[in-house]
This record gives sequence, C-alpha cells and structure tokens, in this order.
Amino acid sequence: MLHFGAALGAFILAQILMALGFAFPLRPLFAAGTLVTVHLLTLGWLSVLMLGALHQFVPVITGKGKAAGVSALFSLLAILFGLAAMEAGFLALGGDLPAAALLFLPLGGGLVFCGAAIAAADFARLLWQARPLSLSARFLFCGLLFLFAALGLGITLGLAFAAPRFFPSPAIFGEGLKLHLLAGLFGWFTLTAMGVSYRLLSMFTLAPEERGALGNAVLLASAGGLWAAWLLAFLAALGAPVPGAATAAALIVTGFGFALYLFDMARLYRARRRQKLELNALMAIASLAFLAIALLCALLFSLFGFDERLLGALAYLFLFGWLSGLGLSQLYKIVPFLTWLQRYGPVLGKRPVPRVQDLVDESRDRPWFILYFASVAAAAGFAALGFPLVWRFAVAGQLLATVMILRALWLVRRGLPEGPEMLAAPAAAQGGPRFSSTA
Ligand code: HEM
Repeated sequence: MLHFGAALGAFILAQILMALGFAFPLRPLFAAGTLVTVHLLTLGWLSVLMLGALHQFVPVITGKGKAAGVSALFSLLAILFGLAAMEAGFLALGGDLPAAALLFLPLGGGLVFCGAAIAAADFARLLWQARPLSLSARFLFCGLLFLFAALGLGITLGLAFAAPRFFPSPAIFGEGLKLHLLAGLFGWFTLTAMGVSYRLLSMFTLAPEERGALGNAVLLASAGGLWAAWLLAFLAALGAPVPGAATAAALIVTGFGFALYLFDMARLYRARRRQKLELNALMAIASLAFLAIALLCALLFSLFGFDERLLGALAYLFLFGWLSGLGLSQLYKIVPFLTWLQRYGPVLGKRPVPRVQDLVDESRDRPWFILYFASVAAAAGFAALGFPLVWRFAVAGQLLATVMILRALWLVRRGLPEGPEMLAAPAAAQGGPRFSSTA
C-alpha cells in the first residue's frame, strides 16, 4: 500500500508539473523540466507501482513465500530518496541548481539501482524456487533484466553529464539514450505489464490462464525480438559492425509480438466466463486499445517520418494511455482486494462478509475513468497538432480524473469494518474474494 500511495503521489505531482507548463510540449523534449517530469512518471509512478504490485504478485504466481516485509520498505525508501537526488541533478542540468549538483544524477541513480536490486533479489529467489516458470513469470523475469539495463544506462548517462571528460564520444547521448529508452519503456514496463496482465485479467474475467502455443509465440517474438534488437544496438554502440537492417528486423519482430499479444488479449476476453465485466477489466480494454493505437502510430511514423511533436505525442499515448491506464484500472481492483483480505480475511467463515466488489462504487467512479482516457486521447492529439495551450486543459482533465480515482481508493481504505457494504451484500454471506490467491 505504501508503494501504491507513493506512486500515486508521484503521478499526481508529475501531472501538476505538466499542467503548469513545466514540461514538453511547452518546454523542449530534453529540457530539464521535461526530464524531471519524465522521471517522476517513469521511476516515481510506473516503476514504484510495478515493484509494489510485484511484491504482492510474485509470491502469488510462484505459489512460494509471503508478500515481502521490511526489505520492500528499504527498497522503496532507496528508490524515493534516489529519485529525489536525481531530480536535483536534472535541475542542475538546466541551470536551476549549481553545477556541483550534477553529481546527484549518478549518485541518485545509484541509490535507485540499490533499491531496485533489493526488491529484485526477493523476486529472483521466489522465481528460482518456482522453476519451470509460468508464462507470466517468464515475462516478469525478462522485464526485470531490462529494468537493470535501463537503470545501468541511466546512471551512465548521468555520469556522462556529471563528468564529461571521461566520456569523450558524444555517442553516449545518442545511442546510449536509445538503449536506455528501449530497455525502460519497452523492456521493463511493457514486458512486465504483459506478464502481469496475462495473470490478472484471466483471474478478473474468469478466462483460461493457459495461453498455449500463442502465448509462447507472444513471449518469443516480443521479449526475444526486443533482446535481439537491444543487444545488436548495444554492440553497434560499442563500434561493432552491426548492419542497421538487422536491428530494424528485430524491432519489427518485437512490434509483431506486441500485436500478437493484443490479439491474444482479445481471445482471452472472448473466452471469459464472467459475462458482465467489472470496471477494472472494462477499463483495461481501453488501455489495450491505447497500446494498439500507439503501435499503429509508431508504424506510420516509421514509414512516413516524424518530428519531435509526433514523437512526444506517441510517448504520451504509450505512457499515459497504455501503461498508466492499465496501472490505474488494475489498482481499482488490487487495492480493494488487499483491503478485503486485511479486513475480512481473519473473520472469513466465522461471520458474513461482503464481496470485494462491494468495497467500491463502480457507478460513481466510471465517469472518472472515462474522463481519464478521453483526456489522454485529447492531450496526445493536441500535442501532435502543436496546440500546447489547449493541451494544458486536457492534462487538467486527466489530473482531475486521477485525483477522483485516488479518492475512490482512499474511501476503500478508510471504509469501516462494519460499513454499509456489509448491509448491501446479503448474497455474499458466504463471503470470499472472486479470485483466488495465496497472498
Ligand atoms: C526505469 C527507469 C527509467 C526509465 C523508464 C527512464 C526513461 C527515460 C526517458 C523516457 C528519457 C527521455 C526523456 C526526454 O526525452 O525528455 C530519459 C532520459 C534520461 N534518463 Fe532516464 N529513465 C529511467 C531511469 C533513469 C536513471 C536511474 C537515471 C540515472 C540518473 C536516468 C538518467 C537519464 C538521463 C541523464 C536522461 C537524459 C539523457 C539525454 O538527455 O541525453 N534515467 N530516461
């Protein structure tokens, strides 16, 4: 819960900075304000959210151990302090702090690395004990490897800014940055989100979790293609004679893997046994649609060319529509579920308890999710068309929707043990969550 609270705080702060015009498109794509905001989003929001979810999720999918204890707290603190130091470094890069503060970039990045390593050590132990790994777990394993590739490259970029004399070649800022983005946005975020969604969405929609040969093809094309592309690009950055066509071919295979994943998700939803979808599963469809749109735009841009504006809009669809949309919609189930376990787990079978779903009010919260996704679509469109002022209104809509969803989660946490949901749920007198977990 601490991870989720900290992550949502960073998400809201990043959107406030955007609405105030502190980041792209009102500032250049590589301005200090944009870098501060991007890392609040990528580390503070998405990485902390994913690590928090994995602390709960890895013990469940491996069937081993309990949710992490105090080590998860140390990991979170290291990441948050490291991020704060990094942000000071980015401000120094833009001249808002003395140049000496540039050193905070690699130092803060190093602290984030240590925090992530503490968490990953826990996950690695559980995954190792659960061999042979399930499909979800194999995605998580690949995602975690990419996390460290992204962090390692980020620290190297930070060192290159803090101590440029040790990095005479400017290639670090070109090729190094591409590798950083590839590992972070596609490797860590997307592969992990794919692995988690395979498990969560099959549980929430009561669809078969076994994905058969198609699931393996998705893993092979997306994770295999991405590793091949990343390693080829890495070798090329070191000066090896790697043909550009080979890296491009590996990237095409990766894109094909993501498209196959979307096809498999459609198959999963069609095969579901729960006909009336809960809000979280319904909104996950919206985030998957954003992934499809982002893939289509990436294809069109690579065929017809793109500029900074289109690139920013594409990143927007990807970060806010796909990744953040999936994160917000799944928090809307995970937080009530964990709260339900804490509050009613000890009395289960001894007295009537409500259903997990009785802890939320879907009809009250549905409009906020709709506002969130509509605002993201509008903001990406305005960024692409170059209307930064109206773009701020769309971001404000997105921010309002996020705050209202946070409020809904807060109400779940604050609900009284004998709250109205108890009275509203006579049918659930036998109690029990609607999906199973060993958590
Ligand atoms: C999962 C973790 C991370 C992700 C997903 C990520 C993502 C990104 C993104 C999207 C950009 C481009 C920003 C823009 O265009 O405005 C970027 C740039 C950058 N990142 Fe990260 N980042 C991560 C971690 C780190 C860490 C730990 C550091 C360490 C200090 C770092 C240092 C940098 C630097 C220095 C740049 C600017 C490079 C340049 O302007 O050439 N990143 N990162």
